[in-house]
Amino acid sequence: MPALVLLGAQWGDEGKGKATDLLGGSVDYVVRYQGGNNAGHTVVVGDQKYALHLLPSGILSPDCVPVIGNGVVVDPSVLLSELSGLNERGVNTSKLLISGNAHIITPYNVTVDKVGERFLGKRKIGTTGRGIGPTYADKINRTGIRVQDLYDESILKQKVEAALEQKNQLLTKVFNRRAIEAEQIVEHLLEHGENIKGYVADTTLILNNALDEDKVVLFEGGQGTLLDVDHGTYPFVTSSNPTAGGACTGTGVGPTKISRVIGILKAYTTRVGAGPFPTELFDEDGEALRTIGGERGVTTGRDRRCGWFDAPIARYATRVNGLTDFFLTKLDVLTGWEQIPVCVAYEIDGKRVAELPYSQTDFHHAKPVYEMLPGWSEDITKAKTFEDLPKNAQGYVKALEEMSGAPISAIGVGPGRDETIEINSFV
Ligand code: GDP
Ligand code: IMO
Ligand code: MG
Repeated sequence: MPALVLLGAQWGDEGKGKATDLLGGSVDYVVRYQGGNNAGHTVVVGDQKYALHLLPSGILSPDCVPVIGNGVVVDPSVLLSELSGLNERGVNTSKLLISGNAHIITPYNVTVDKVGERFLGKRKIGTTGRGIGPTYADKINRTGIRVQDLYDESILKQKVEAALEQKNQLLTKVFNRRAIEAEQIVEHLLEHGENIKGYVADTTLILNNALDEDKVVLFEGGQGTLLDVDHGTYPFVTSSNPTAGGACTGTGVGPTKISRVIGILKAYTTRVGAGPFPTELFDEDGEALRTIGGERGVTTGRDRRCGWFDAPIARYATRVNGLTDFFLTKLDVLTGWEQIPVCVAYEIDGKRVAELPYSQTDFHHAKPVYEMLPGWSEDITKAKTFEDLPKNAQGYVKALEEMSGAPISAIGVGPGRDETIEINSFV
């Protein structure tokens, strides 16, 4: 069982943090491969609650090495404050490794993200405002700053000056903002570089060597399949590849090393930010899911949009990620409904469509076709085995499994580590 990928099967916030933390005790490395501090992963250990943004959730498992891969974008100020926050709570963070090839979110990337969104007005994406998109844009445009650049002052200066030459034109002439001084940025980056120097390493070499020694490596995705820049609901997506292939490009580990791809799947659907969402609810059911499920963003504090489970989305996630398993989360949130609607297909311009349409226009027009499944009222948070669940809850899980195209190997019945029903072991 060399390398496993754990990723979001919907629009993020499926409970990846909890699932990663659960496996953290039995793997040697937990590696973030894309995204940055746009992620918000909540992990509950005993009576302690941790909100992680940039750090891999494996940081809470003492024997596990947490790694930030080359595909991640790193805001050094956020990294340092997240580390010191954990240190103050007694968490040992000294094992962290950061790829020298990861790109840096600079203060001007954050400015461009925020001002750019304001400029889009009604057409805005609803980004987290953390500079994610502009940093990946610089990376692809070959004007980005990498972690390793923080250790060569002369190269850093040249790169920042080159990047700002364009950025300042945009800021002053299009966005009507003040220009940013290269010198200040360089100083800020050099200082932060010194503070993170001890963590920087050749993570690709380390991970490949670990896999050669039969160590277990878990790749932890941020965001989710439908936020993927290639496979998601473009343009209402993030600027990286949370899908399984991203684990290879974002770490330098080849696909032949990956034996299992686990999709984290919420028992209903949520989304933060703008974009189409066929099963979205605007009534008291939506409000109830939000309240019972605690669906408020960990990163931005925004209310999450809530809706019923969407089976075509789950099937799509199985397909584009080659999922081997699902981890179904938050089943407990559905306790109390007499009947639970599940979207089994869409109606698009009068036609029934079984799969996620590739056309953005069609997806915007998609109306959910619902099948009603019988609900349950018993408390399920203490369930330890599948058989402990009420018959109708078992039926709900079985129906979702049949519709989604991969076995459900674990079920979350509460936020805590132990509030999980394990059906097939992952490691
Ligand atoms: P992530 O971004 O995928 O890591 O998910 P978030 O942490 O943003 O959101 C998931 C929320 O659901 C967190 O508050 C978790 O503590 C919580 N959670 C995870 N699994 C379960 C579950 O099975 N039941 C309940 N009730 N809450 C859960
Ligand atoms: P986790 O890892 C939910 C959404 C934003 C916005 C879009 C683009 O906690 O599941 P960005 O700042 O990435 O350019 O914003 O993506 N988004 C998320 N939604 N969970 C996340 O992360 C998200 N990260 C980004 O709301 O719609
Ligand atoms: Mg989240």
